[in-house]
Amino acid sequence: MWGGRFSEPPAEALWRFTVDHSDRRLLADDIAGSLAHVAMLGEVGILDAEEAAAITTGLEEIRQEAESGGFEFSEADEDVHSAVERRLYELIGAPAGKLHTGRSRNDQVALDLRLYLRRAARERIDDLAAFATLMADRSDEVGEAVVAAYTHLQQAQPIPVGKHLLAYGWMAVRDAERFAGVAGRLNVSPLGAGAAAGSSLPIDPAITASALDFDQAFDNSIDAVGSRDVVAEYAFCCAQAMTHLSRLAEDIVLWATSEFGWITLDDAYATGSSALPHKKNPDIAELTRGKSASVAADVAALLGIQKGTPLAYNRDLQEDKRAVFHADDTLATALPALGGLLATARFHPPQPDDRTVALDVAEALVARGVPFREAHEAVGRLVASVGGGSLRDATQEQLAGAHPLLTGDDLPSVEEAAARHPVAGEANRLRTACESLGS
Ligand code: ARG
Repeated sequence: MWGGRFSEPPAEALWRFTVDHSDRRLLADDIAGSLAHVAMLGEVGILDAEEAAAITTGLEEIRQEAESGGFEFSEADEDVHSAVERRLYELIGAPAGKLHTGRSRNDQVALDLRLYLRRAARERIDDLAAFATLMADRSDEVGEAVVAAYTHLQQAQPIPVGKHLLAYGWMAVRDAERFAGVAGRLNVSPLGAGAAAGSSLPIDPAITASALDFDQAFDNSIDAVGSRDVVAEYAFCCAQAMTHLSRLAEDIVLWATSEFGWITLDDAYATGSSALPHKKNPDIAELTRGKSASVAADVAALLGIQKGTPLAYNRDLQEDKRAVFHADDTLATALPALGGLLATARFHPPQPDDRTVALDVAEALVARGVPFREAHEAVGRLVASVGGGSLRDATQEQLAGAHPLLTGDDLPSVEEAAARHPVAGEANRLRTACESLGS
């Protein structure tokens, strides 16, 4: 492909170090980009109709091979772009030499990656919307069971467990919105930017941009081939979503302990121990936690790849694909695994400590005109006077000792306190938010 100025073949060590196979998944996008490119070359008259038709026919055949799984990569292919061009030569001979007119692998790879990530972003939006909808549905099914909301991992206030699930649902909605944002920025075609400064031939980037359904073609060719900010942003979208899942995973690990006892995992979504016959482990949750670290590292890699590279294209940029594909694949596999775990888990949380109604008790005094600080101190005294016991067991004397206005009627049950935070309406609002993500 580029041997003209070289007198020796590449060293084995060079080849092993520089060849990239991580881009093979760009095959379909590479062919689609080439089909649009050759159509444009024909339309503007750079290729005659016969040449354009011969190349198009060859590319269509390669597309069929790719779709049927029959496309064969060769060890001698430097990357996916060389593989397609090599195959085109095998199929149609000499006219294949005109495909790369007015184009470089630099704008080609930038195009392929944008096509791939634009489609992947839509998939991730659907996956996240499905996950958030699942949180709404589970909240309807199990959500009235009362648990404590926690701060500092200490029981804080009684809530329906659905609140906890819905919180993760809203995070997933924002994660999906972030993917929609990057999808918009991905939707600019770099094709026509060439190696760095376009072509002296009368190519028309607007034609290929519209054929490939982009919002527009690039404004600046150097930016088009040299920038990877949207790739890093895509990885960040994955990393933030994985980080949310990681927090949920940590909650699940806690909930599944015998100490918490909130949930029992379905056998199909738990794993066993090779040594301890009684064990049932939450490996999906643990790996979500672990993998979120490696996806965060993908973002660091993509920032590092950019920071010292002079404009425009440098081979460093080839490393972008390994990182962003890993980030995207990890999120794409984590969502259904964790979703399945939550869809099938049985929720049976024990009652929270009834001292979690303490704020409600203080606020009952506040409602009768007692300053909040005074009420806070009074309820603190009451908590101290019952020792480790239940607030509901406080005697008339202990109540009056804490505050003269305090009566047994001021002590709600945890169910009554939790009922102040209804979840059904919120679950419906979450479902509506998910539906509007699809459009
Ligand atoms: N495989 C390369 C990459 O992924 C394609 C672009 C190669 N360009 C070049 N000038 N060597 O970045």
